[in-house]
Order: sequence, then C-alpha cells, then structure tokens
Amino acid sequence: MSASVITVEKRENASQNLIIEPPGSLSLQGRIRVPGDKSISHRALMLGAIAEGETQISGLLLGEDPCSTASCFQAMGAEISELNTELVRVKGIGLGNLQEPVDVLNAGNSGTTIRLMLGLLASHAGRFFTVTGDSSLRSRPMSRVIKPLQQMGADIWGRKGNTLAPLAVQGKSLKPIHYNSPIASAQVKSCILLAGLTTEGKTTVTEPSLSRDHSERMLRAFGADLVTDPETNSVIITGPTQLYGQTVIVPGDISSAAFWLVAGAIVPDSELVIENVGVNPTRTGILEALAMMGANIQQENQREVAGEPVADLRVRSSRLQSCTISGDIIPRLIDEIPILAVAAVFAEGTTIIRDAAELRVKESDRIAVTAQQLNKMGAKVTELPDGMEITGGTFLSGAEVDSHTDHRIAMSLAIASLKASGQTIIQRAEAAAVSYPEFFTTLQQVCGDR
Ligand code: S3P
Repeated sequence: MSASVITVEKRENASQNLIIEPPGSLSLQGRIRVPGDKSISHRALMLGAIAEGETQISGLLLGEDPCSTASCFQAMGAEISELNTELVRVKGIGLGNLQEPVDVLNAGNSGTTIRLMLGLLASHAGRFFTVTGDSSLRSRPMSRVIKPLQQMGADIWGRKGNTLAPLAVQGKSLKPIHYNSPIASAQVKSCILLAGLTTEGKTTVTEPSLSRDHSERMLRAFGADLVTDPETNSVIITGPTQLYGQTVIVPGDISSAAFWLVAGAIVPDSELVIENVGVNPTRTGILEALAMMGANIQQENQREVAGEPVADLRVRSSRLQSCTISGDIIPRLIDEIPILAVAAVFAEGTTIIRDAAELRVKESDRIAVTAQQLNKMGAKVTELPDGMEITGGTFLSGAEVDSHTDHRIAMSLAIASLKASGQTIIQRAEAAAVSYPEFFTTLQQVCGDR
C-alpha cells in the first residue's frame, strides 16, 4: 500500500482531528493483541489496594480509566508501582484501612472507578471523602449506587438532590441489605458488594439479568466469603472478610477486540486473529450477536487464565444479515452496541436493538450519538427510546464526524470509515485512549501501513 490510510491533523489550541481515507483495495490482515480488560484492570487495582499483602498484576490496561483508579487509591494510602503491562505491584493496606485523602479524588471519565469506589468510601467509618470526575462523568447518574448505599445507612451528598458528582461521603459503619436492583449493572452490583465487604452480616444483590461477574470471581479469589445463586441472579457476600493479595493476569478486553471482529467481518478479503481475548460468558454477547448476523468468527486455543476464560479469536470477512437484539443478552454486550450498529449498517436487512436504554447514560448518549454520527456518513439509523433501528446496505461516504469525547464512538466511527468512500474526519478521536491508547496504531498495522 502506498499512502497511509490514517493521517492526523493537529489544529493549534484544538483537539486533534484524525483523517481516514481507505484505498479501494483495502483488506485487513494480521495477528494482533488488544490491551488488558478494563473491568478486570479496575478491580485488580482496587482489590489489590484494600487487600492485605502484595498483589501482582500483569497485562493491566494502561488506558486513562485504570490510571484514574490507581491515582485515587494511591491518594488513600495504597502503594502502587509504576503502571506498565508487564508487572504492577500493589501493596495493599488491608480491609477498612483506606486513609482520608487530603484532596478531592478524581475519577476522570470512569464510571467504574467512581461507582465501585463509592461502596468502599461509604463504608469507611469516621473518614471523609470528596470525589469528582470530568464533565461527562459529572453528568452521569450516581443515584443508582447512592440509593442502595443510603439504604445501608450511608451519608452521601451531591449536586441535584444527591444524584450527581462532585460527591461528598462521610464514611460510616453500614448495615447489610438485600438489594433488588432495577437494572442489570455490574457497577451497581459491585459497589454494593464492596460496601458489604466491611459490613457485618450478609449483603445480597439481586439483578434482573446477569451482568458481568468479574467482581464475584475476583473477590472470591482474594478470599471473600461470597456465594452466587444463578437461578435468581443473586450474589451474597458475608462481611467482614479480609482479602489477601493475589496474582492477577488480565486477559485482552473483548470490548476492544469487538472493533477488530467487526472490521474483519465487513472489510472484504480480510482475516484477523486477535490473541488472548477474555471470553467470560457474561461478556460474549457480541460473539453471539455477530454469529446471528452470519459473521465468520472462530474461538481457538481456548484456555483458563487466572480464573477467567481466554481464547484467540479468528475473524474472516463474510456477508452479514440483520438481526434483533434485546432482552437478557443486552447487559452481556452493552459496551459493544456502537460497533454492533456499524456491523448492522453493512448487513442486509433491518437490525433492531431494544432494551438498551442504559446506552443513554454511558460516556455519551450512545443511542443519539451513534445514530447522528453514522447518519452523517449516509447510514440509516433511527433512534428508539431504548435502542436503534438500522437499515443495512446503504453506501457510506466520508464525512466530518465527532466522537463527543466517547472512546467507543471514536473507534466505531473509525471502523465505519474503512468502508466509506473518500475521506472521513473524526473530531476528538483522542478519546480512544480512555480504553485503547494503541487503537489507531493497530489500525494502521492491520491496514498494511508501514
Ligand atoms: C462495567 C460495567 C458496565 C460497562 C462499563 C464497565 C464494569 O456498566 O458499561 O463499561 O466494569 O463494571 P454498567 O454496569 O453500569 O452497565
């Protein structure tokens, strides 16, 4: 290939524009690795920080979100070595020992950091904490975790009637509850379980359908007294239980692999192998949805690494058909819906996505932003209150689009642009660094750029 598919335009005092112009003959080839799983990276840092002894983490995601988690816990006394993918050492301070930070904790763009951490802060009796985030995080609902914590007796204050960050927390001894969560959310579930760690007695969370279970797996591995009831989607933690430092090997993030799965499926004559991807069944909704659409994806070299299932994923291009995605599968592919919408744009027929109203309160309103930005390129995406209707088979033309500072939107638009004629300009594409700092380098690599 002669010219580079991607160029970057830096405007002075403005965020950077990324320009993608695929050649007519583009095909994607290669064996690649995606960075460490974001959910597991957060949890490894957090549990490591509150455990007794040392936790060793390899494969940590070096994205902006886990960096926010690391700096919050450092500010509360945990010793965390320099972040890298080889080996991070966390010297835990033991259950209930987080120190009162001298300044406001900053969770940046990360919903997982602020919501999980709140469970720990609220249950640290006698200590006072304040926590904030960037403008996206400050507009995201916190009442989903504040309400159950208040039922446990927590004292939390925030803007707009205690629903938005910045938040102030006066730590207290909490009482156990049985919380019937109205939403299937791993952040809500994990927040309550972490509060339950230091709380005397049995704290139970029941969710309407199963969300990702990384907290349950890791809490158990660190020594927590935790049982699950799959019949009722319930988790019961009995506190107080001391945690002990462990070795955590973080697998590649299936949410990051999803971009390559869709790219490999829609760009003709492509074949990609994505090595070492976490295939925890609570995260593999994307594989099921793409299989329903007729994508050619194989799981190879299946194995278990440090309590999480892992495989290499091989994708070859194929003709895609539309499908309907709703119900219990939604929490198992919630972060992959923007890229799934891109797949649907290139599929034959009309794809319907429902029961996904949660997308409206992610890093951006992902229903509105996905529809608006793909439609700028000529797609036919109609917003539904809780999803999208996508008419496939339209031809896309390059356009000026905007990530709205949402990492997954930036990357989804980049993949869509590989099948658009002409030039696509992605504004605020640097948002990708929240979960996948090397995304555009890998994109160049699979496009054959040298
Ligand atoms: C996450 C849970 C999901 C997901 C987010 C990460 C986690 O959010 O969207 O990117 O690590 O627990 P919800 O649990 O709020 O659905």
